[in-house]
Amino acid sequence: MKDNTKKQTARSGPYTKAGMLAHFLHGSKRFFIACIISSFIVTLLELLIPQVIRQTVDSVIGDAPINAPGFILRLIDSAGGAAYFREHLELVALIILVLALLVGVFVYLRSQTTSVAAERLSQKIREDLFSHIQRLPFSWHMENKTGDIIQRCTSDAERIRTFVSDQLISVFRILLLVGFSLYFMFSMNLQLSLVAAIAAPIIVTYSVIFRVKISKNFEACDNQEGVLSTIAQENLTGVRVVRAFGRENFERDRFEKQNEVYTSLWVHLIKLLSYFWAIGDTIGGLQVLLVLVLGSVMCVNGTLTAGELIAFITYNSMMIWPVRQLGRVISEMSKAGVSIDRIRYIMNSEPEQDRPDAVSSETAQQALRGDIEFDHVSFGYDSEKEILHDISFRIKAGTTLGILGSTGSGKSTLMHLLDRLYDLPEGSGRISIGGVDIRDMKAADLRRGIGMVLQEPFLFSRTISENIGIIDRNIPEEDIRRAADIACVDETISEFTNGYDTMVGERGVTLSGGQKQRTAIARMLTQKAPIMVFDDSLSAVDAETDARIRSRLAQLLGTATVILISHRVTTLMQADQIIVMEKGRITESGTPEELRTSGGLYQRISELQLEDTDKEVG
Ligand SMILES: Nc1ncnc2c1ncn2[C@@H]1O[C@H](COP(=O)(O)OP(=O)(O)OP(=O)(O)O)[C@@H](O)[C@H]1O
Ligand SMILES: [Mg+2]
Repeated sequence: MKDNTKKQTARSGPYTKAGMLAHFLHGSKRFFIACIISSFIVTLLELLIPQVIRQTVDSVIGDAPINAPGFILRLIDSAGGAAYFREHLELVALIILVLALLVGVFVYLRSQTTSVAAERLSQKIREDLFSHIQRLPFSWHMENKTGDIIQRCTSDAERIRTFVSDQLISVFRILLLVGFSLYFMFSMNLQLSLVAAIAAPIIVTYSVIFRVKISKNFEACDNQEGVLSTIAQENLTGVRVVRAFGRENFERDRFEKQNEVYTSLWVHLIKLLSYFWAIGDTIGGLQVLLVLVLGSVMCVNGTLTAGELIAFITYNSMMIWPVRQLGRVISEMSKAGVSIDRIRYIMNSEPEQDRPDAVSSETAQQALRGDIEFDHVSFGYDSEKEILHDISFRIKAGTTLGILGSTGSGKSTLMHLLDRLYDLPEGSGRISIGGVDIRDMKAADLRRGIGMVLQEPFLFSRTISENIGIIDRNIPEEDIRRAADIACVDETISEFTNGYDTMVGERGVTLSGGQKQRTAIARMLTQKAPIMVFDDSLSAVDAETDARIRSRLAQLLGTATVILISHRVTTLMQADQIIVMEKGRITESGTPEELRTSGGLYQRISELQLEDTDKEVG
């Protein structure tokens, strides 16, 4: 496996961090705006309540003049002034009650809009990631670990969601609350406000430093969680190997050991966090104490009214809690930065694209019925190691080419190139069909024209019928059956209780290797492509069924151009032409008859295999 660490956090590409967030926010923006507005109103209302209490204590209970903006003063005067309220204290209670109710209403609106915004955002992230990943080239999928991609699409996507819907909103709210609290405090008493405000930068600095210090502990916990899920996932998918080799206890011990590490990491982290909260509380408590003592002294001296002291203490406590939250939020935001980069790596990976001057679908369809030609093709999966060296051959339209070769000689690689799962770089030769360079065709046209049974067929956890008819949702049932019949799998499927509606995979039947291969052949046949490739597709089928399938195929194939890769000489014998590959080079080519006496690999293998068959028969 190549080292992709550098590439996987690549920052180049169409999306900047902010650009990607803006893109994801498309569709949920108005909910976020509504949420910010409600948040703003809630904060204002919360800030208003201490003002009402202060005025009540100083001007309704006491006799200080009411200190409020002009329009409120006029309102109070028209109601009968402070004296009126003194006689009707229940009115003051009513005002506070209404304010509290309004707070409730806007808190409700805030949480409603936040959750809708957050869910919409999540949905958009999932949708965009999935559709982008669908369009990424096959080579990208080969280079990146599936587990890692899934983790990026789940945990990292979730972290971006909380970043926007939780942290960004919190920062906004905290700044608002702290800003306004300080404003009211300063407007009441400068000295006391200075004393109170001095604690804020101390607490923020302390919590940011502390958070940064313990961020590696958080990271260790995250990584250890990854280790645990990998063990669990491997054991679930590899359950057969575990059972077959009697490794249950070993695997359990291994899991327990890692689980223990995970637990102790968390215990350690929680211990550190407890220190953090305890010290934070102490600093906060000291600040409150200082404000209370100083405020009381001022109150006794007459530089501060009782109402102001009450309001001051309320604002102070309103400010101190968010200040402590700010440290946490800031450090969590830095974690979100990593997640944004991890998702940006996917979104910035370049999707598979057709050339702008690609030939039309009709031209491609026409061409796909022509000869296939590999012209001096050289290729390596990475630049360091060349796998195919100067390969040239031609398959006449409507004929069958057999490919024989030792394992790892590059047979499947040839087919990957033909299907453009990997693009042949310029200057490394040319692959053409019907005279058209396959790079000049749209990938979809090309692949529609090549029916490919891959060496390791994959079936989805859907019904057998859906698996075979994957090419077209509306494919008639009889076409599916006919294809299955030719692939000699119809009988097996009919024996299942639910026939073609039997589920395949984890929730349904487990097909044998040979059954899977034959289902994959049936699936390819429904494509009715002018070119058909069988990459070692009958390896898990017994020789007799192999022969039966081949004879049924022969009737069907008619005008198709066929490429047959096999290790079995009997499978290849009916080909019109055979090439033999060794270590990425063509070492022999000719008709089966020519090769049987050529003294090369084909002759050696055919003698070995036919001898074995003779023995079996005899
Ligand atoms: N996705 C890949 N990335 C990097 N190297 C690869 C990849 N796929 C195959 N290879 C390497 O390319 C070489 C040729 O592999 P290929 O699968 O084409 O062989 P093959 O002839 O089909 O073998 P077999 O008969 O076993 O199927 C091997 O050395 C293999 O390790
Ligand atoms: Mg192969």
